[in-house]
Amino acid sequence: MERTLILFKPDCVQRRLVGRILARFEEKGFKIVAMKMLQVTPDMAKKHYQEHVGKPFYPSLERYITGGPLIAAVLEGLDAIRVVRQMLGATSGLEAQPGTIRGDFSLSRQMNLVHASDGPEAAQREIELYFRPEELFDYSLVLEPWSRAEDEVG
Ligand code: CMP
Repeated sequence: MERTLILFKPDCVQRRLVGRILARFEEKGFKIVAMKMLQVTPDMAKKHYQEHVGKPFYPSLERYITGGPLIAAVLEGLDAIRVVRQMLGATSGLEAQPGTIRGDFSLSRQMNLVHASDGPEAAQREIELYFRPEELFDYSLVLEPWSRAEDEVG
């Protein structure tokens, strides 16, 4: 089983799309194991987007991500990191395919509504940045036996 960090970014909150987009992840079969609203500080933004600090678009990215409250969540499921990224579509809403979240709801390369971890190391680092260990819940869903075969384990 894999866990990935999702951010419903400030544009997603402002456009009141959190419920619709969260529903897509629940409908797909992901389990929510943590969730909270917070406002990212410039210091957190630099930690989260460390690989982008110094790029020409970083000052604007920091203003955007710190510009209002966002909702952070951790989703759990088989191959969660890859499958969630596929559901988001290309980084830019201008390039993302119809049917993906960004393809359906975003017309911007920056205001692309949702962030998701891009690999196992990033997932671990980002989950630790947003959540304390006791904020992550281990529990079973009663429908799990009807959601995948017994030999399908992560
Ligand atoms: P995200 O998946 O959260 O990862 C980095 C973010 O930087 C990305 O989504 C966009 O919000 C933003 N971003 C990436 N590329 C650009 C760009 N060329 N111009 C402006 N913002 C960008």
